[in-house]
Amino acid sequence: MRVALRWILALVAVTVTVTLIFAFFQAKAEKRALRNELEGRAQALGETLQDHVEALLSSPDPTALANYLSQVENRDSLYGIAVYNDLGTELAATPSLVGALKLLPSVVTRAISENGGRGRFIDVGPTLLYLYALPLHRGPSVTGAVGMFYDASYIDAEIARIWRTTFWTLVVEIFFIVLITILVIRWALTGNITRMAQWMRQWRRGSSHAAPPLPDDDLFKPLAEEVRHMTAMLAAARAAAEKEAQLRESAESLWTPERLRVHVKGKLQERPLFVVSNREPYVHIKNGRSVQVVVPASGLVTALEPVLLACEGTWIAHGAGDADRETVGPGDRLRVPPDNPHYTLRRVFLSPEEETGYYYGFSNEGLWPLCHIAHMRPIFRASDWEAYQTVNRKFAEAALEEMEGTEEPVVLVQDYHFALLPRLIKTERPEARVAIFWHIPWPNPQAFGICPWQRELLDGLLGADLIGFHIQAHCNHFLETVDQALESRIDWDRFVVNRRGHRTHVRRFPISVNPAELAPPEGTKPPPVDRVALLKEHGVDAVLMGVGVDRVDYTKGIPERFRAVERFLEKYPDYQGRFTFLQVGAPSRSTIQRYRDLLAEVKAEADRVNARFATPHWKPIVYLQTLHSHAQLARYYRAANLCMVTALHDGMNLVAKEFVAAREDERGVLILSRFAGAAYELRDALIVNPYDTEQLAEAIRAALEMTPEEETLRMQAMRRVVAEHNVYRWAANLIAELTEIRTEEPRPVGAL
Ligand code: G6P
Repeated sequence: MRVALRWILALVAVTVTVTLIFAFFQAKAEKRALRNELEGRAQALGETLQDHVEALLSSPDPTALANYLSQVENRDSLYGIAVYNDLGTELAATPSLVGALKLLPSVVTRAISENGGRGRFIDVGPTLLYLYALPLHRGPSVTGAVGMFYDASYIDAEIARIWRTTFWTLVVEIFFIVLITILVIRWALTGNITRMAQWMRQWRRGSSHAAPPLPDDDLFKPLAEEVRHMTAMLAAARAAAEKEAQLRESAESLWTPERLRVHVKGKLQERPLFVVSNREPYVHIKNGRSVQVVVPASGLVTALEPVLLACEGTWIAHGAGDADRETVGPGDRLRVPPDNPHYTLRRVFLSPEEETGYYYGFSNEGLWPLCHIAHMRPIFRASDWEAYQTVNRKFAEAALEEMEGTEEPVVLVQDYHFALLPRLIKTERPEARVAIFWHIPWPNPQAFGICPWQRELLDGLLGADLIGFHIQAHCNHFLETVDQALESRIDWDRFVVNRRGHRTHVRRFPISVNPAELAPPEGTKPPPVDRVALLKEHGVDAVLMGVGVDRVDYTKGIPERFRAVERFLEKYPDYQGRFTFLQVGAPSRSTIQRYRDLLAEVKAEADRVNARFATPHWKPIVYLQTLHSHAQLARYYRAANLCMVTALHDGMNLVAKEFVAAREDERGVLILSRFAGAAYELRDALIVNPYDTEQLAEAIRAALEMTPEEETLRMQAMRRVVAEHNVYRWAANLIAELTEIRTEEPRPVGAL
């Protein structure tokens, strides 16, 4: 209330001062106007009287003047009239003046002596009079004066009225000021603050649903928004703490974003982290006149974003969006995530020639088929290799620029696009800790050896302190390749390459998914997906469903999968009209001719199988050639009886893990290629050879005919693996290893 009193006093003081100043000037102006008006009136009357009185002074009738004066007295609100001779002696006066004036007013004498009209206000007892005196003449000489007395007390009365009005106006104003201030404070401030406090108190006690709603008027909206954000963050922290406590209680060791955050902070000890990848975490894309921010559907982004959120680092990536250039700030940087900035995204922009040579050419027509044994011939063009080197240098320059001023920076390079980067960085910053994670397989030395620049690639990679692969077989292949191609000493016990005094550790870090992304929100159960209705949406009447989700890539074995569906229906015709396979195929790298050809081939294969078996209301394959959101995919995963991952060769394959993560109901069968890295972890899948059509067809039958008990047992086991070996654990292990390994060669024992 003290605040209210201060506001009221301040407002009253200002109002009173302003009103009094206005009233003062108004009274002054009014007084002047009334006086001027009275003087004017007196002068006008004087001029009328002057001639008459002069004439009557010479009249033989001594009463004529007095009579005339008493006639005029009643006119024009006169108080009285008196006539004086040149010595100032009163010759005649109206009765009202008799005895009123003790002395001759000086203004009369002045009018006579100065021979001109003179006026003055005089106090006669309690009455204020205005006297106007005019000289009287006979011929040229002044014979006396006539004085007109006006009652001027109405002027003071008028001024008093103005002050009275001012006073009452002030009283009313002060009353309203006090009233309005109290009401405003009550309703707009105290009320809202009390509601907010009540809301926060209820929230603190854990029953915010019972609290009044937060104020949403303009004044309080920003504050209420902040309160909402803060409480949401506190709620998340509270939930995380509870979860951690539960995990400790149940002696489990699940990795959560919070645990990763704490872990990374501890490992990096306040140092920022630098991540380099080709794909960026936020792409700006033109959408008509507006610009849209898109998070690419990439496992890599899902895996690395929580790490960056935890440690305030910098992510250096190719700015590939068509609105990327116009959305960066100085130094091609921007803070992301856009709605809650936590780290810096540094975009590297490439010319179309650089992108063609480095990304489409060397990375995806050269290294991609080289590393995936899918029997697609790699293409090695010298011009692509040139572009690859140029772009690696460009990214190295950007990374070095970002690392300036950071002591012993920690750098995580991603994938086959940047094999040369570790060496380029370490040459300039030998004390930096650099890891590269190779997200695709590493083939055997003979297969890799066909690359004309294998030594340069290996040398670039061996600049790193740590090289990560998904599975041990890829680590072994890499070490064998180094062994055959370069002069080095390999420590097979520790998986370390010693070369020119530098040690490169080679380790297995199986990447994974964030199971929460495909699971329903904590504490809720997803509504069961109606499989029949879902298939009907796609124009199919069927009761059993299989699903496949892939980028359309020749390593994924999509035509092989369709041929297996065909063989299955051929072998087990009872399933015709009952089983449909739904394939989501996201177009990818379609600038490359082989990928365009594959798009057409997959479509033709689906059409061929469909043409062979389709009936008016059923077909064996629904092929959806578009990108799908996580929510849409989760619906397909949950509806399916089985999921087919038939990659001909794959580093890991996250679709297999996504399918498992989405199956809260612990049902569904995973058919998984033995050539996908995931097969080393998800041993309860039906493991298949995708080249063996008979085996694949049998796997479909086995999946559809599996008992619910076995389905659940297998799914439970796989869900445990995915929950424990999630993407947060992958990131935590990678960073822990990188920050802990010894980078220099230990001295031989004799040298100690
Ligand atoms: C592979 C790579 C990833 C890449 C993904 C999508 O899985 O290992 O790093 O994100 O393909 O390929 P794209 O060329 O579209 O980035």
